[in-house]
Amino acid sequence: MTPLTTLGFHHITLVASDARRTAAFYRQVLGLTLVKETVNFDEPDTAHLYFGDATGAPGTLVTFFEWPQAPRGRYGVGGVHHLAFSTPTYETLLQWKRRLQDLRIPVSGPMPRGYFTSLYFRDPDGQVLEIATAGPGYAIDEAIDALGRDVMGQQAHQLPGTRDEAAIAAATHPEPVPVITPAMALTGLHHITGMTDDIARTSDFYEAALGLRLIKKTINQDDPDTPHWFWANYDGTRVLPGSSWTLFGWSPRHPRARGGIGQTHHVAFRAQDADEQLAWREHLLGLGLDVSPVMDRRYFTSIYFQAPDGQLLEIATDGPGFAVA
Ligand SMILES: [Fe+2]
Ligand SMILES: [Fe+2]
Repeated sequence: MTPLTTLGFHHITLVASDARRTAAFYRQVLGLTLVKETVNFDEPDTAHLYFGDATGAPGTLVTFFEWPQAPRGRYGVGGVHHLAFSTPTYETLLQWKRRLQDLRIPVSGPMPRGYFTSLYFRDPDGQVLEIATAGPGYAIDEAIDALGRDVMGQQAHQLPGTRDEAAIAAATHPEPVPVITPAMALTGLHHITGMTDDIARTSDFYEAALGLRLIKKTINQDDPDTPHWFWANYDGTRVLPGSSWTLFGWSPRHPRARGGIGQTHHVAFRAQDADEQLAWREHLLGLGLDVSPVMDRRYFTSIYFQAPDGQLLEIATDGPGFAVA
């Protein structure tokens, strides 16, 4: 049997304090489609909003539980720090910066991350968001058939203290960008980044549980003492877009994530269909994990389990999708 490997992210689900405000931001500022608005199937008195591309394709979906009474969340070990959307080029990235600036949304970057270039800003509940260029990709400092083998250092122009902060702050698109052009549209989840407390153990977990492969061992450029590792659907010849899961390796003395407003509730990866999902379930049970039964989420079916650091994970089917009645 072929080892199971997820194709990447299906969706990420966060907690919002105000569905209307969240919808205005993700639709009007970022240009995502409100694909569906339902009740939360586990808590029918609360709303669940799904944003994504026009069809709600897996890998483009960001969803929110509206929990106005929830405590404010905090990122930490076992949680997500930020999610990154993909934009095609450096030029379209600068268009996003100009758009955010003109909307008076504080934005930093374009930060040279080597494998991509990034902007950072926050959503109305404080969730850190990133927009990253699709390329140049992970093969700029290692051969494509040897990604993740050695620890990669970073160039001076990427590190605090030596990078050109004035030039970064000044770089923007010369004209206002009041309309999101098709060329600059966000094309889905570029990567999602969290924190863990034992990065070697966590790496073994993601490789064994999800079939992801370690593609990059580097450092957090904003905190160079912290390891930053990347995993993805990688076959030795290419890294599948929409599959990059990355973690900062924090020491166990750092605080744990606390769920709540402005934080991620869970991260969902893809199963292609119901049969594959059952195979995933058997596979995860075989690893000794506690796995939920298959849950009907109308637009997909889901199973849930946890990483050793406490991160809540889901595997969701591609179908039937959001066109279902
Ligand atoms: Fe990032
Ligand atoms: Fe989910």
